Amino acid sequence: MKIIATVREMQETSEQLRREGKRIGVVPTMGFLHAGHTSLIVKARELSDVVITTIFVNPTQFGPGEDFERYPRDFERDCKKAEEAGSTIIFSPDVREMYPEGFASYVEVEHGSRILEGKFRPTHFRGVTTVVLKLLNITKPHAVVFGQKDAQQAFLIQKMVSDLNVETSVVVAPIVREKDGLALSSRNVYLNGTERERATQLYRSLKFAKEKIQQGERSVDILRAEMKRMLQSAQPTQIDYIAFVRPDLFQEIEHIQPPSVLIALAVRFGGTRLIDNHLVSVSS
Ligand code: PAJ
Repeated sequence: MKIIATVREMQETSEQLRREGKRIGVVPTMGFLHAGHTSLIVKARELSDVVITTIFVNPTQFGPGEDFERYPRDFERDCKKAEEAGSTIIFSPDVREMYPEGFASYVEVEHGSRILEGKFRPTHFRGVTTVVLKLLNITKPHAVVFGQKDAQQAFLIQKMVSDLNVETSVVVAPIVREKDGLALSSRNVYLNGTERERATQLYRSLKFAKEKIQQGERSVDILRAEMKRMLQSAQPTQIDYIAFVRPDLFQEIEHIQPPSVLIALAVRFGGTRLIDNHLVSVSS
C-alpha cells in the first residue's frame, strides 16, 4: 500500500490511474479507523479497481472548544486496517498542505445545513463540504463512499456534488453497530464504562420509535416525547435534538408521512457528543 502526503503527488497518481483505465474509489475519513470505516473501504473496493482512503483530521470542521486537538489518532494502526480492508493508497496530508497560508475559499450548501447538527455546530458543515470538495479534486474518484451514520453530512455532500457538477458518484453505506446497538464512532473511546452502557439507549429509543410508527403512530410530538423519556432514563448530560426529517429534502416534519422518515438524534454524555439515526419506512 502506498502512502501519499502531498496534493501534487496524489493528483498525479490519480491522473495516471485514470489514464490506465482504472476505476478509483475514495473513502474520506479522519482516521482512528473502526469497522464502520472499513465497511466503506470494502464497499469502495467492490465498486472500483483502486481504493484511496484519505486520513485527515480537518480543523475547519471543528468549532472553538471542540475536540480537534484531542481527536484520537493512530496512523500506523489505520494503515494496517485500511490495507486489510482493501485500500491500495492512503492520502494523509498535513494541515499546511491542505490549508496553506492565505487559504480563503469555502463551500457552503445553503439548504439543510443549518438544522440539526448545523444548529449546534454552526461552522461544521462548511468545513466538511470544503474539505470534501478539495479531497474530490485531489483524488479524482469515480465513486466516493460515505456512511449513513452521518446522515446529514451524506445528504449535504450529495447536494454539493449535484449542484456543483462534480463528476463522481456518491455512495452511502449502512451504519455499522456494536452488538448492543451502539453505532461505531471514533469518539466512543471518550466514554467511561457507565456512559458506554447508557449510550445503548440511543439506538433503543430509535428502534422504539420505529415500532410505534409501524403500529400507526403519526404524531411527531408524541414520538419525540416518548423518545425523550427513554433517553432521559440514561441520564445524559444533554439531549441536543430528537429530529424527524423528510429524507429527500432534509426538512423537519411535524407529522409522519409515507414513504419514509429519518429519525436523528444527538445526545451528550459528559463531554462526549454522540449522534445516531434510523431510516424508517412509512406505509400509507
Ligand atoms: P469520520 O468521522 O472519520 O467518518 C468517515 C466516514 O465513516 C463517514 O462517511 C462516516 O459517516 C463513516 N462512518 C463513521 N462511523 C460509521 C459507522 N458506524 N458505520 C458506517 N459508517 C460510519 O465523517 C468524517 O470523518 C469527516 O466529516 C469527513 C467526511 C472525512 C470530512 O472531514
